[in-house]
Amino acid sequence: MDKLLIKGGARLAGEIAISGAKNAALPLLCAALLTDEAVTFTNVPQLKDIATLLRLLADMGVQVSREGDTVTLQAREISNPVASYELVKTMRAAILVLCPLVARCGEARVSLPGGCAIGARPVDQHIKGLQAMGAEVNVDHGYVLAKSPRLKGARIFTDMVTVTGTENLMMAAALADGVTVIENAAREPEVVDLANCLVAMGAQISGAGTDVIRVQGVARLHGCTHRIMPDRIETGTYLCAAAVTGGEVRLNNTSSAYLDAVIDKLMDAGCEVQAERHAIHLKAPARLKAVSLRTSPYPAFPTDMQAQFMALNSVAEGSAMIRETIFENRFMHAVELQRLGADIKIDGNSALVTGVEKLQGAAVMATDLRASASLVIAGLVAEGETLIDRIYHLDRGYEKLDEKLVALGASVSRTS
Ligand code: UD1
Repeated sequence: MDKLLIKGGARLAGEIAISGAKNAALPLLCAALLTDEAVTFTNVPQLKDIATLLRLLADMGVQVSREGDTVTLQAREISNPVASYELVKTMRAAILVLCPLVARCGEARVSLPGGCAIGARPVDQHIKGLQAMGAEVNVDHGYVLAKSPRLKGARIFTDMVTVTGTENLMMAAALADGVTVIENAAREPEVVDLANCLVAMGAQISGAGTDVIRVQGVARLHGCTHRIMPDRIETGTYLCAAAVTGGEVRLNNTSSAYLDAVIDKLMDAGCEVQAERHAIHLKAPARLKAVSLRTSPYPAFPTDMQAQFMALNSVAEGSAMIRETIFENRFMHAVELQRLGADIKIDGNSALVTGVEKLQGAAVMATDLRASASLVIAGLVAEGETLIDRIYHLDRGYEKLDEKLVALGASVSRTS
């Protein structure tokens, strides 16, 4: 199994390009199930999760062709509307095939994701929404079985803000009979990216990016070409990495538009951040100031950046309180950061981080995608060598992470 060896101490400097967003690409690729015409996506990141989803779509009978960052999908006929446990357990986002399959084929059999490292993460809201649209849904032997000859428009109120739930239901509503209104909808930019693509495919959607989305169902959708938005979490991760090393970087092919809450905290920490047309420039001070934060649905501070800021606070001046409100078990990186010498006290969903002058390199274990990113950031400033085990988590969500860090001057290499 691959490991990542980081020699800490290098100041990150220079420029790199940010990839397309994983969390936008996953629902977008699933949207291709909604039409029998070809849909082409550009700026598709090369990631393990994307490869897994493309394999799943191919198993269902979708024609998949990929050249560089362009992927074309054509779901002329869907022979097998099934997503197996083997696949869904490695990638929860596979649940995003559920609604497109029901909308297009009238039925679907999709494994329940089960628990994952960061919490229970149920899909009850996806199911509740489908039922409101008239689908017959049963859970049998760990699988969601959903059937409906034609979904009907409905008013759906989700009990909590759910990103993939909103995306799934928006896709169901696109081909439903009548009007669907999703209230308490997620406002994440990835939801807007999906809505824009669906509209380009002929869907009638308004309100994406607000908490009420209105969809007038249509009888059929057609093909289109869509460029996937930049990855705001990858962007934020490199900004943090540069910040902890006292570096100066320009990140290209990205936008500050979706990163207000993160950039605000980086500026509070003492960084100079300038938004350019399709780039962000960051210059960090010699030592950062600790910054408190609380995760919440967009546009507030994203839970997917919480771990990276815990690493940042670990070496900053002063103390900061981090509150995680989205997932109940998302502090597993804290124990690993402590192995590097970080001073972190956990109390329920709060973490009090007191910055230390220096972290020391050690062997650590990646536990989930963003937790792994926090260990990389810590390793970049730690004295000596940090060896991160189980980096398949990183390969799920960061395209060419080691190459990009090396391009910025870090000493990072893969070992087996
Ligand atoms: C998405 C992102 C993930 C991010 C998360 C929160 C993708 C592919 N993944 O995950 O990177 O960390 O948003 O911003 O876009 N919940 C329920 N029932 C449901 C659905 C959700 O109880 O039916 C709960 C979850 O357990 C969690 C909260 O609602 O506590 C938010 O989850 P949700 O927004 O659905 O996360 P994902 O869409 O899975």
